[in-house]
Amino acid sequence: MATTLGHDTAEDIPGLTTTRAPFIEAARAHGELYIEQPYDLYNGENHEAWRQLFARMGDRWQRYANPRFLQGVETLCLDPSAVPRLEDVNKFMAPRTGFKAKAVSGYVPAYLFFDSLRKREFPTTITIRDAGRLDYLPEPDIFHDIAGHVPMHTDPAFADALVRFGEAAQTAVHIVKRIKDPDEQVRRTTSIMKAMARFFWFTVEFGLMRAPDGKGVKAYGSGLLSSYGELQHSIESPMVQRYPIELEWVINQYFEIDHYQPLLFIVESFEHLFEQVGMLEDWMKQGKLDNVSPGEPSLSEVDVRSFIDASA
Ligand SMILES: [Fe+2]
Repeated sequence: MATTLGHDTAEDIPGLTTTRAPFIEAARAHGELYIEQPYDLYNGENHEAWRQLFARMGDRWQRYANPRFLQGVETLCLDPSAVPRLEDVNKFMAPRTGFKAKAVSGYVPAYLFFDSLRKREFPTTITIRDAGRLDYLPEPDIFHDIAGHVPMHTDPAFADALVRFGEAAQTAVHIVKRIKDPDEQVRRTTSIMKAMARFFWFTVEFGLMRAPDGKGVKAYGSGLLSSYGELQHSIESPMVQRYPIELEWVINQYFEIDHYQPLLFIVESFEHLFEQVGMLEDWMKQGKLDNVSPGEPSLSEVDVRSFIDASA
């Protein structure tokens, strides 16, 4: 059903709804990964989904979000009533940290994604979830990417940690380049990537940080900040284990994406996060990521190839 919000009421605008966006399907069919954001294709229902998602997060962000995230939301001047235009977001973000949101048609292979961070580009999903299913979504959408990730990218210290992570991915490519045996190259690439994916998951996606007054913790991970239910759960629930980050634990810890996270890690500050990324890279150089424990996440051949092909 189309709804009215001072936007269109036309029933014939196809919309950019997750899994139901003809524009995206066409782009993928043509092999186009980086695309424009065809703003006129958002229909009333898409804007209504954004409005509802944004409205209900307000109080929870105030209570549970890291203060730098709250500043970021203000900096970006996001419109609570309409899906954001990436060019508007970039106008406010780029002068702060140089980061720019860049529209993509779908999944970005792992190395390309990490290397984008190194270049201060953030591959951004432009579809939005169905207004009738606000809570659960296995795929990222523009609410996760713009309201969950991008406010953090306005913070220089956090942005530097992301760039550092992209540099670590480049180091991984240099390391796997030197491995001559193809099977061993795949095996070690897979292990290093698994460690990197786990680190990214437990920090950028689901990280907690000690609150500035030293009492309790606040969320800075985008998976938490874009989830109405899990944000509160992550801070309040006795079902969640919260521990100071330990690199050797994080890189060997499997995770599952289809339920609330039972284990979260706490950093002290974004400077601390930056140091941890540096340590991850050091360990990579020392071979300490070559045999991490098996288990999730499972990596697609496309992801593994993206590293090996970059080293060719
Ligand atoms: Fe994410």
